[in-house]
Amino acid sequence: MSIIKELTEDIKKIVKKAGYEVENLVLETSNRPDLGQYQINDAMNLARTYHKNPREIAEDIVKELEKDNRFTNLNIAGPGFINITLTNDYLIDCLNKLTTSLDDIIDKKEKKKVIIDYGGANVSKALHVGHLRSANIGEALKRLAKTLGYEVLGDAHLGDFGRPLGMVIKEIQELHPGLPYFDPNYTGDYSEIVLPITNEDLEKIYPIASQKAKNDEEYLNEVRQITNKFQNKEKGYYELWKKIVEISKSDIKKTYDNINTDFEIWNGESDEAEYLKETKEIFEKKELLKESDGAKIVEVKKEEDNAPMPPLMFLNSNHTYTYATTDLATILDRKKNYNPDEIWYVTDDRQSLHFEQVFRAARLANLVDEKVNLEHIPYGTMNGKDGKPFKTRDGGVMSLKELIKLVNEETIKKINNDTMSEEEKKDISKTVAIAAIKYADLVPFRTTDYIFEIDKFSEIEGKTGPYLLYSTIRMKSLLEKSKDLPKNKITKFKTNTETDITLQILNLPLVLDKSLELKSLNEITEYLFKLTSLYNKFYSENKILTEEDSELQESWLALTSIVYSINNLLLDILSIKVPEKM
Ligand code: ARG
Repeated sequence: MSIIKELTEDIKKIVKKAGYEVENLVLETSNRPDLGQYQINDAMNLARTYHKNPREIAEDIVKELEKDNRFTNLNIAGPGFINITLTNDYLIDCLNKLTTSLDDIIDKKEKKKVIIDYGGANVSKALHVGHLRSANIGEALKRLAKTLGYEVLGDAHLGDFGRPLGMVIKEIQELHPGLPYFDPNYTGDYSEIVLPITNEDLEKIYPIASQKAKNDEEYLNEVRQITNKFQNKEKGYYELWKKIVEISKSDIKKTYDNINTDFEIWNGESDEAEYLKETKEIFEKKELLKESDGAKIVEVKKEEDNAPMPPLMFLNSNHTYTYATTDLATILDRKKNYNPDEIWYVTDDRQSLHFEQVFRAARLANLVDEKVNLEHIPYGTMNGKDGKPFKTRDGGVMSLKELIKLVNEETIKKINNDTMSEEEKKDISKTVAIAAIKYADLVPFRTTDYIFEIDKFSEIEGKTGPYLLYSTIRMKSLLEKSKDLPKNKITKFKTNTETDITLQILNLPLVLDKSLELKSLNEITEYLFKLTSLYNKFYSENKILTEEDSELQESWLALTSIVYSINNLLLDILSIKVPEKM
């Protein structure tokens, strides 16, 4: 159990000794630090249970607390708020438990297997800022859950089997009608065909085809037919589809890699095709499919619904499966192959209804055990300065690559280190740009829409990724410069700043818990900023390397190394890389 939780448990026991029973005692961080570091507010509740004056109860508790030498400056405010301060000796003892590992400020959870679906990039279409948010939030949640002891698997769940691919193939057919893929009599080896198309071409082809399909019914019809063909593994079309997926997927992998995102499972919607038939059989057996204008639907409405809940479209009137059916089949696949305790879906909040329908249908059909938690983790939109969805300078949708490029143009201006070659600068700027993007994206509460201000978020000062990187690198450099000096033991503090840093350090497990509970990373970004700012205050108040009191110097270096470890741990959870220098 973490130090802070152990302390809370101890206080509970002390309260019991004083004659009172509290089930969930909370050690609140005080908002009046002049009165104490923490506050216990339970006397008021106890007063009701024990029919006593709260002030009297508080006095009884304080009397017991006073016997414990971990506490000092105990006092009662107002009707019975107990203010508590921890002694420096005790805080120093706590810190000394953390010099070799952070285990005492991390509370492992009961083991659970979780699949997180947070990819969703679409093959042959450029990744956009929406996919960036899924990746940032999903990857960080995955790492957080892992840190807290869960077994977690990320699934890319690429969109690789739908109509967009039909459009791309249709357009390729118009551009290169002579390709052997379109020749029904071709008997050669498909793997030997050189497709004169790069990933960049694919990304350009899709918007053109999509535009045409919008305005041309006949074109759209052919797209539908082609989609049917590759979905049913028809010779030629299926081979071309495979080739396109291969080209696009390797680019998608690179793009995810650039934003420090990786998946344990690289499945696509196409991998779920083999589960569609069985899914349908399950729904049929349970008589959940209803005819509706030639389509098959599942009624997912409940009595208690206040908002409209349309039925889930299971089979379109042209007998093709839908996005929802694919998600149902995916649940079956995950159940069979991984048997998870929970499945989390990180997508933008516009898909909330979709997931509600899918989860309800999955429950009706018992696709997974009742205990299995299916959870949609929605997020808001990353907007441009005008408060509207991000657009490029010429008004197009902002692709992820474009955004990274724009931020990079800012961060490179801010790296003023003469010891670096141009090459090095470019390399480091890329890492800093990704940090700027990721940190800014995780600062607001997950569901909040926010404005991405490129210039502000790339600043080295303020609540930004670059500020955290810069500060963390400075800690590392201090530790390197002092590599021959001892830094194992903390024996004393000089000012209150060290006390404040320690309190912040002890608070970490509560922040991690809260972050996991809310499935939002803003708790962590906020904490990192606070801890780092406190550390920087301490750093500027003291001349650590030239300090003559060797015990104080060792204490400071040991404290630095703990803060440095925490920063590294948290930046790693946020999947932000720290460059060698800056
Ligand atoms: N490919 C989808 C999109 O771009 C996201 C997929 C999300 N995951 C899921 N299981 N439906 O909107």
